[in-house]
Amino acid sequence: MGVSYKAVGWNRQKKHYDWILFAFCLSYLAVFIGFSIGFNPDMTFETLLIRSTSTLALLLLHVILSIGPLARLNSRFLPLLYNRRHLGVTMFTIAAIHGGFSIFQFHGLANVNPFVSLFLSNTQYGSLHAFPFQALGFFALLIFLLMAATSHDFWLHVLTPSIWKTLHMGVYVAYFLIILHVVLGVIQYETNPIFIWILFAGTGTVIVLHLLAGTREVRKDSMHFPEATDGFVRVCAIGEIPPDRARVFCLDSERIAVFRVEDMLHAIHNVCKHQNGPLGEGKVIDGCITCPWHGYQYLPKNGQSPPPFTERVSTYDVRIIDGNVFVNPKPYPEGTERPGAPIK
Ligand code: HEM
Ligand code: FES
Repeated sequence: MGVSYKAVGWNRQKKHYDWILFAFCLSYLAVFIGFSIGFNPDMTFETLLIRSTSTLALLLLHVILSIGPLARLNSRFLPLLYNRRHLGVTMFTIAAIHGGFSIFQFHGLANVNPFVSLFLSNTQYGSLHAFPFQALGFFALLIFLLMAATSHDFWLHVLTPSIWKTLHMGVYVAYFLIILHVVLGVIQYETNPIFIWILFAGTGTVIVLHLLAGTREVRKDSMHFPEATDGFVRVCAIGEIPPDRARVFCLDSERIAVFRVEDMLHAIHNVCKHQNGPLGEGKVIDGCITCPWHGYQYLPKNGQSPPPFTERVSTYDVRIIDGNVFVNPKPYPEGTERPGAPIK
C-alpha cells in the first residue's frame, strides 16, 4: 500500500521461504547429477550442468504456473502465492545458467558471434525433426528476463497494475515456447520416450488446474439473481456469510464482495488496487478487509486504505430484510463512505 512507492523489506516468512527454495534447488541439482553420473559415468561436466539446470528450471516453471489456480481452488496454497515472484526470479536465474552455458558450449567456438551462430548455424526452420529449437529457448529466456527485471513492486508502481499484469501474462507465451523447445529438441537427441511422457504429464497438470479454477470462476460469475426491486438484488441469506469473511457476487458484470464485520454487513468492489487480487477471498484483520494476495488493507465502511495509505475501491449499498441480504449493484465513487447494514 503506498502513499508513494516504498520498498517492502524481507520479513521472516519470506526469508524462511527463500531458504527452503534454495535448499530444494541445491538438493535437486545434487540428486540429478548423482543419478546421471551413476547411470552414465562418461557424461561430461558441461552436459551435466546443461541438463540439471534445464530440468530444474522446467520443474519450477510448472510449479509457478500451478500456484495461481491451486490458490483459487484451495486457500491453503495462498502462502505460496505471496512469494511467487521469488520463485520466478530463481527460475529465471537457473534457466539463464542453462541457456548461457548452452550458448557457450555449442556456439562459443563458432567463427561468428555466438548469438548469430545460435540463429544461423542451423537454418532448417521448415523441418520438424531438425528444427533449430535453441532459438525458441532464447526467446522464452528473453521473456523471463523481462519479467524478472520488472518483478519488483517498484515497477508495478511505475507501470501501473494493469500494464504490469499484462506484461507478466507473457509467462504463458514463454511456457509455450519452452514446451516446443523441449519437444523439438528431445526428438533430435533422445530416443527414450519417457521424457516426452513426463512433459505431457506436467503440461496436462497445468492445463487441468487452469480449467478447474476457470470453470469455478465462470460458474460463480454466471449465478442468476432475481430481478431488482428498488435497485436492490437479493444475493443470499445472512447465515451464508461467515464472520470476518465475505461472499462474492457478480452483478451487472462487476464482482462485489459482501463482508460481515462484527454486527454489520459492508459491500465493496472485489478487485484489489495492488495487483487485482480477489478481496472477497480475504478476511477481516484488525477491522480491515485484508487482500489474500499481499495483504493490502481497506476499511469496510468506505473502501479506503487506512491512513496514511491512499488506495480506494468502490463501495455499494447493502440491506438486510427478513434475514436476506440485498445489494444495490450501482457503485459509489471509490472511497465513498456508506452506512452498511446492521445485523439484528
Ligand atoms: C538461450 C536460451 C537457451 C538455449 C541456447 C538452450 C539450449 C538448449 C540445448 C542445447 C538443449 C539440449 C541439451 C542437451 O544436449 O542435453 C536444451 C534442452 C533443454 N532446455 Fe534449453 N536452452 C535455452 C533456454 C531454455 C529455457 C529458458 C528453458 C526453461 C525452462 C530451457 C529448458 C530446457 C529443457 C527442459 C531441455 C531438455 C533437457 C535437457 O536435455 O537439457 N531451455 N536447451
Ligand atoms: S493484489 Fe496484492 S495485495 Fe491485493
